[in-house]
Amino acid sequence: MALWSGRFTEGADAFTQRFGASLPVDQRLYVEDIAGSIAHANMLAAQGIIATADAEAIAEGLQGILADITSGALTFDVMESEDIHMAIEAELTRRVGDAGARLHTGRSRNDQVATDTRLYAKRRAGELMAANVALREALIAQAEANFDVILPGYTHLQHAQPVLFSHHMLAYVQMLARDYDRLAAARNAADACPLGAAALAGTTYPLDRFATAEALGFDHPIPNSLDAVSDRDFLLDLIYACSVSCLHLSRLCEEIVLWSSAEFGFITLSDAYSTGSSIMPQKKNPDVAELVRGKTGRVYGDLMTLLTVMKALPLAYNKDMQEDKEPVFDAIDTVEMCLPVFGAMLQTLTIRPKNMAKAAAGGFINATDCADYLVKKGMPFREAYMIVGRLVNMCIRSGENLETLTLRDFRAISDLFDSDVYEALELKHCVHERKVYGGPSKDDVTRQIQYIKDFVADHR
Ligand code: ARG
Repeated sequence: MALWSGRFTEGADAFTQRFGASLPVDQRLYVEDIAGSIAHANMLAAQGIIATADAEAIAEGLQGILADITSGALTFDVMESEDIHMAIEAELTRRVGDAGARLHTGRSRNDQVATDTRLYAKRRAGELMAANVALREALIAQAEANFDVILPGYTHLQHAQPVLFSHHMLAYVQMLARDYDRLAAARNAADACPLGAAALAGTTYPLDRFATAEALGFDHPIPNSLDAVSDRDFLLDLIYACSVSCLHLSRLCEEIVLWSSAEFGFITLSDAYSTGSSIMPQKKNPDVAELVRGKTGRVYGDLMTLLTVMKALPLAYNKDMQEDKEPVFDAIDTVEMCLPVFGAMLQTLTIRPKNMAKAAAGGFINATDCADYLVKKGMPFREAYMIVGRLVNMCIRSGENLETLTLRDFRAISDLFDSDVYEALELKHCVHERKVYGGPSKDDVTRQIQYIKDFVADHR
């Protein structure tokens, strides 16, 4: 029989009971639910609203329930309890009698579920932040291990200018650093306590909302009771942070898929993070990268789900909001799987520097440097740009590269060219002369690695 059966003359239809229940989903909140209840009971006793002996019986009973759920000795039935809040309360009352029946004084499931979800969001955001730091460390390790390797830099997926592989990895570290900040912001958004808002309008009992907020480690109690029970922004923030994290991973996934192809041959994935084909014996597929890329779509779906669930809901609590948990759990679980598996794949892949260098040697990747060479000899950039364009055109027709042209070819187009042009066209030169802050030169990439290491150490 449901806890609210007093007002009803008929029991709920079995289908309605199953349809309305959130227990199968929200039972994951049991740790947070019990923590919230113990804090509430202690506060009720401190305020003289229930007896201290009752609060003690409640706390003891709840500790027992916590242990039994964790060990698997206690499970709940959706036909008996609609959600984890009612399941635990009913079990508590079975175990400790009247004291258990006093627990819900001055509380509603509306402030209870919001409290549980906020505690949960804070905990899981913290886990994701730790996984984010670990992945950044894996990226930095690859950058350091392959510090000098040159690969083509692309724009429009066309050869643009040469860069260091380490520089490329560090770009992802920067993205992940921003993801970390977004996760931290989501955790902050969750860091306020709804308890005491009760159903929507607070309560006539002299609750100490500051005490429960503090006991549960929240920064402050939420200042408006209606907002306290109807706000799910913190969950949206968290799924958004998850979405952008996936977006970033998906970009590197795409590169890993391309790089591991026969056409690129820039990397070889470890067997442990690739799969074969059931029909084609030669295949080695970059499944992990593909799957992480695919899961990005799923996390976006979670974000869209919750945005749409929350859209146009009148204040305060609406049952629609029960639909918040599945997308949140799914987004967090997905990212929590993706980050470490991605890191492991990354740590175990092999870089093929020769293939990268070979690719970088074609496609006139040093054309800008050729123009810059003329500029340094006094020519205006636009004029140099035109001249090198003509040289490239000439090379395309004759099947040559800039560096294979003779000095006579160069000088036929401009007498500013001299034998030192060949040095200027060397890829190493192109990379390491880009000494601008944030650029691909050895010195600057070293600086970037140090900066990031300090940053990561701060976030540890
Ligand atoms: N299971 C509900 C949820 O997850 C708990 C809050 C229910 N409140 C209510 N008034 N029906 O949203």
